[in-house]
Amino acid sequence: MSSVADKSVLITGASSGIGAYLARELARRGARLGLLARREDRLRELADELENGGATVAWATADVTDGEGLAHALDDLDADLGGTDVVVANAGYGVPEVPRRFEPGVAIAMYDVNLFGMLRVIDWALPRFLAEGSGHIVGISSVASFFGIPRNASYSGSKAAMRVHLQSLRMSLAPHGIAVTTICPGFVKSELTAPAKFPMPFLWETDRAARLIADAIEKRRGEVVFPWQMRWLKQLFVRAMPVAALEWLAEVRPAKKRPEGSGQA
Ligand SMILES: NC(=O)c1ccc[n+]([C@@H]2O[C@H](COP(=O)([O-])OP(=O)(O)OC[C@H]3O[C@@H](n4cnc5c(N)ncnc54)[C@H](OP(=O)(O)O)[C@@H]3O)[C@@H](O)[C@H]2O)c1
Repeated sequence: MSSVADKSVLITGASSGIGAYLARELARRGARLGLLARREDRLRELADELENGGATVAWATADVTDGEGLAHALDDLDADLGGTDVVVANAGYGVPEVPRRFEPGVAIAMYDVNLFGMLRVIDWALPRFLAEGSGHIVGISSVASFFGIPRNASYSGSKAAMRVHLQSLRMSLAPHGIAVTTICPGFVKSELTAPAKFPMPFLWETDRAARLIADAIEKRRGEVVFPWQMRWLKQLFVRAMPVAALEWLAEVRPAKKRPEGSGQA
C-alpha cells in the first residue's frame, strides 16, 4: 500500500502545472487532498475531477502573500480533511528582470510569493506538527537555486533561500519526527514555462515530474534534483568550477554575441 494512502496533503499552487498534476498523482495513490490557489474556477474543476475519480478533496482560495487569509484557508482545509499530514509549498512564479526595464517592487513581490509564501505555510503547519511529533514539509525550489541566473535574480535568489532554509529545517526537525523534502526541478511543462522563448533543455512532461515528486514524498527524501542531466550539470559546473569562470560562461561570453535589445524576456 502507498505510504500516502489516506494521508492528508495540502498543496499550495494547486490550480495548474506541477501542483495540479501532483494532486492528481497523490489522489491516484489514495491521499486526501487540500487544494489551495487564487483561481477558484480551476480549483473547483480539479476538485470535481478528483472527486469523480473517488478521491476525498477539499479546496480553498487564498493568496499566499496574505498571511491571515492563507491561515484561514489552511484552517478550513485542515478541518474539512480531519487534519494535515503533509504540506506542499508549491505556489510560485518567475518573471525575467531585464535592467533596461527595471521596475521597483518586482523583486520584493517575487520573494513574497516564492519564499515568504512558503514560510507562511510553515508558520501555520509547524506548531501542529511539533505538537503531534509528526508531519512532513515539502518545498518546491528549483535548479535555479544553485546559481544566480542572469536576468533572474529574484527567482534564483528566492529559490536558493527556500532550499537553504529547508536544508537547515530538515536537520533541526528530524529529531522531532518531522520530515522536510526539497524538490529542485529543472524545466517542466506548465503555465510558468509555456511563454518561454529561450531553449529549455531536458524539458519534462508535467505528469512525469509529478510522479517523481510523489515518490520523493512517499520516501520522505531530503533534497531531490531532477532531471539527472541537470543534477550532473550542477555538480560539474556549479560545484566544481571557479565562480568567475562560471559567470563568464553564463553571461559575459554570450552577451558579446547578443544583439542590442535582445535578452531573455
Ligand atoms: N515549471 C518549471 O519548469 C519549474 C521548474 C522549477 C521550479 N518550479 C516551481 O514549481 C512551482 C509550480 O510552478 P509551475 O511550473 O507548476 O507553474 P504554474 O503552472 O504557473 O503554477 C503556479 C501555481 O502557483 C499558484 N500561485 C502563484 N502565485 C500565487 C499566490 N500569490 N498565491 C497563491 N497561489 C499562487 C498559481 O495559482 P493561481 O494563479 O490560481 O493563484 C498556480 O497554481 C513554482 O514554485 C515554480 O517556481 C517550476
